Amino acid sequence: MQMEKNNYILVTGGAGYIGSHTVVALIENGFTPVIVDDFRNAQRSVIQRLEELTETNLLVNDFSIHDKNQLIQLFNKYPFSGVIHFAADKAVGESVENPLKYFNNNLGGLISLLEVMIQFDNQKLVFSSSCTVYGTPDLVPVTEDTPTKMPESPYGFTKLMNEQMIHQVQTAHPELNVAVLRYFNPIGAHLSGWIGEEPQGTPNNLLPYITQTAVGKRDFLTVHGNDYNTPDGSCVRDYIHVVDVAEAHVAALNFLNKRKVGIETFNLGTGKGTSVLEMIRFFDEISGMNLPFKVGSRRSGDVPEIYANTDKANEVLGWTAKRTVKDAIRDAWNYEQQAKEIQ
Ligand code: WQD
Repeated sequence: MQMEKNNYILVTGGAGYIGSHTVVALIENGFTPVIVDDFRNAQRSVIQRLEELTETNLLVNDFSIHDKNQLIQLFNKYPFSGVIHFAADKAVGESVENPLKYFNNNLGGLISLLEVMIQFDNQKLVFSSSCTVYGTPDLVPVTEDTPTKMPESPYGFTKLMNEQMIHQVQTAHPELNVAVLRYFNPIGAHLSGWIGEEPQGTPNNLLPYITQTAVGKRDFLTVHGNDYNTPDGSCVRDYIHVVDVAEAHVAALNFLNKRKVGIETFNLGTGKGTSVLEMIRFFDEISGMNLPFKVGSRRSGDVPEIYANTDKANEVLGWTAKRTVKDAIRDAWNYEQQAKEIQ
């Protein structure tokens, strides 16, 4: 028996870093998230922490979105009013060593999901993309109309290909209604310190490496180059609080519920660039520490400077980042210090 359309939202990769924070934001806004995650890149303990944090019994399905039969069973069970697709591999460095894993998982996963959504005439999709599709922009800040470029890594390539796939599938199936969200650099953790970024193994990303160095898990941070053509020579990024990113997904769902748009793409950033050396300085200010770091050689594939023009998300989604980079660093540090207790 098909229940009438409800506020069930399918969240693929819902146990992951951005997925778990989005699950909290969905519940806070009256939605019922249904998580699908194969936990290849997430700890199962996240679910229990999420349930305590949200005081709800979560609907969790432990399987890969590549398993179409299980996906079909789920679509038979829930009248999803929307889908948020996070499930993908996202380590830039790993993708260079193992591109086929990324092509299979990130491209194959989206194909499987789209096939089932179309089979069930399920129309609303919020897709997790990345600023990496801009490659090295000629000008900053970048708008959604800034031309995309062939990204340097297979990870970035899969995000660009995913966007192209969505455009071509939506042309063939105009009932699809899609918001593509290009994240800049999500950082930080929920204020409670109960959920946050849990990189598997050695962190690729800057802030988790900083906080792990600060708790003594790493000896020192290596700054990948300080000879770029940027204000202080180190690379500039648009670091955005993960809770702001999560809240943007709710705004995107509400937007799709109101309007049949076809496909709309949005930058999710703060509109402000911060350099690596500034991030270290901010961390020292907030933690009272003196983070040990050394300047090493440039990391291949790094973009010298990129940050977002956020006018479109502000005007069309009615969303803007409310938290600062320092808020995110504070919350990431709080999470790292608690992490050993709660994992
Ligand atoms: C930021 C800056 C590094 C670590 C990638 C993906 C992007 C998104 C976020 C998924 C760079 C420097 C880093 C270190 C350093 N991924 N750095 N020492 O590469 O901008 O973006 O992660 O959503 O799609 O492309 O993020 O945090 O790895 O690096 O100096 O130990 O920090 O060189 O300049 P990046 P990052």
